[in-house]
This record gives sequence, C-alpha cells and structure tokens, in this order.
Amino acid sequence: MVNQPKSLRVIFIAIQSLFLALFSAELERLEQAAKPDGTLSFLVVGDWGRRGAYNQSEVAVQMGIIGEKLDIDFVISTGDNFYDNGLSGIDDTSFDESFTKIYTAPSLQKQWYNVLGNHDYRGDVEAQLSPILTNLDKKWLCLRSFIVNAEIAEIFFVDTNPFVDKYFTEPEGHVYDWRGILPREKYLSNLLKEVDLGLKQSSAKWKIVVGHHTIRSAGHHGDTEELVGQLLPILQENNVDLYINGHDHCLEHISSPDSAIQFLTSGGGSKAWRGDVRWWNPEETKFYYDGQGFMSVQIAQTQLDIAFYDVFGNVLYKWNTSKQLHSTM
Ligand SMILES: *[C@@H]1O[C@H](CO)[C@@H](O)[C@H](O)[C@H]1NC(C)=O
Ligand SMILES: *[C@@H]1O[C@H](CO)[C@@H](O)[C@H](O)[C@H]1NC(C)=O
Repeated sequence: MVNQPKSLRVIFIAIQSLFLALFSAELERLEQAAKPDGTLSFLVVGDWGRRGAYNQSEVAVQMGIIGEKLDIDFVISTGDNFYDNGLSGIDDTSFDESFTKIYTAPSLQKQWYNVLGNHDYRGDVEAQLSPILTNLDKKWLCLRSFIVNAEIAEIFFVDTNPFVDKYFTEPEGHVYDWRGILPREKYLSNLLKEVDLGLKQSSAKWKIVVGHHTIRSAGHHGDTEELVGQLLPILQENNVDLYINGHDHCLEHISSPDSAIQFLTSGGGSKAWRGDVRWWNPEETKFYYDGQGFMSVQIAQTQLDIAFYDVFGNVLYKWNTSKQLHSTM
C-alpha cells in the first residue's frame, strides 16, 4: 500500500512521456561545429540520384574540387535523392550507386544533411531515414524536419512534401509513402508551430530554411502555393535570410522588394530542364541557369556569400550580403 503512490507516479510519468512523444513534434536539434574562427562554408546540391547519369558524376567531381577550395564543413541536399522512386528499401543498390560511389572526393566526406523530395516519397521513406544507411556510409543523414545549430547560423530543414495538396488529391498513379505523416492536418499544424517556435528561439546571426519544394521559382514547377500561403509568412515574420530548395532542376536566385528573404534554388544535381523557364519579373530574377550545377554558401559574422557553379566548376553567379555586428546578439 505504501508503495502504491510511487508506482502510480512512475506510470503517470511513463504515460506523460509517451503522450509527449506522440503528440509534440519538437524538432530534433543537431550540433554542427563552425570553423575555429567562427566562419562556416557548405555546398548545396539537389535532385541528383541517377547512378551518375545526366552529368551527376561531373557535378560531383566539381563539388569535390570546390569543396576542397572552400574547406567546406558539410553538404546540404535539397531532396529527390534517388530517382525515379526513392529507395525500395535499405538494401536498394541505388544508395551505393547514386550516392556512395558518386560523391567520392575527400572534401565531400563530411556530414551530409539530406531532406526528402517528392520522388523519395514514391519509395520506402523510412529506408532513407534509417540509421542503417549511416552505418553503410557515415556521411549520410536524412531526417524529415530538423534543426542544425551551426553557431553563427541556424539551419531549419523542413519536409515540404506533406504540404503539397496534389500528392494527396491527384497522385497520378504514384504511390506516396505517408507513414508517419497522417493525419495530415495535425501533422502540418504541428510542424508549422515547431518551425515558428524554433525560429523565434534562435539567437543565431543568420537563419536559413531548407526544403525540397520551391516557394518562389521561375522554373518548371513555379511557386508552391501551399508554401507561399503557410510557410512563407512564418519565414518573413522571423527574419529568415535564405530559403533554399530544389525541385526545379535549375540554379536560380530570386529576390523581391516585398521580402528580405533570398530564394535560392539548387536543383541541378543531375537531369536539368533546359529551356523550361517561366516568365518572371526581371527585377526579381537575379540569376537563372537551366543547366546542371550546385551552390556554395560561405558565412562569417558580418557577411554571407553565395556562388553557383556549372558542371565545369565555372562560377556562373555570385551574390553577397552583409549585416552589422550589432544587429542581433
Ligand atoms: C552535361 O553538361 C554539358 C555542359 O553543360 C551539356 O552540354 C550536356 O548537355 C549535359 N549532358 C546531359 C546529359 O545533361
Ligand atoms: C559583394 O557584391 C558586390 C556586388 O554586389 C561587389 O561589388 C563586392 O565586391 C562583393 N563583396 C565581396 C566581399 O565579395
């Protein structure tokens, strides 16, 4: 009898933890060290896994060279990691043939932070999230939505797939792996809340958000209206500096006077959409390239530098911005 209240309390705590685990989608936080001088550099590639085809291998070689030159700290993948239908399971040979055997340069053997693309959702999503892949290749890490705290910058990775209505309403014969996402409304409202909260709590000098889908794009897919309506207001309210995505198979930079956010597409990891360009206000289209390539980001306390490269490693475009030391922190 004397022990009963204690055991009840243990049960209560167990139930409470279970409840929290099930119903609070607190984003996982990962720590990424910056360089000893506090700066950070990384590459961004998207829409890549084609067993080396469509210049995937050429892009990988140049990433290796630029990665070495910039002494990168990590690599970001904006999703569509494996074509056409993600991975069929943890033993799918695409993992080796489209990732491990392609990104072989020493400078690329850093942490990769991967998000999922719509093509990844057409396979076994949980395979890509599995730690077994990290055992096979230690640079691999893929989660749905998470935060990387890199000191000077905080990077918010958002799984944008569940936002897109048409994958649910007109799947066009594709089967999407929505395990862990349903019920969708609840999942999305939780996710938005967590991203908002994470951004509000962030004291990092630079705030970056990464997702697979476009918010603003002059490419084939154009804007993703669901993200314009639901995610963009949160990014604007929290003074996000960059939104980085893939999905459109091009390299582009859009910047509009009504928002301080820079919209950057790095989706040129393999097959490109040559000539597939929409009209966009030339004042806002800072750069558009419809071939293959990748992007680099270099961050210091007061300056952020972007560059886009083609399959030969040529710099196609550069952009920079600066912030005063006293503006935050
Ligand atoms: C590879 O890149 C070159 C240079 O941009 C381009 O001319 C060629 O068409 C590309 N090949 C493929 C298969 O996309
Ligand atoms: C930043 O970009 C401007 C052009 O917009 C250029 O004149 C300047 O040299 C760049 N600064 C650095 C440090 O690269």
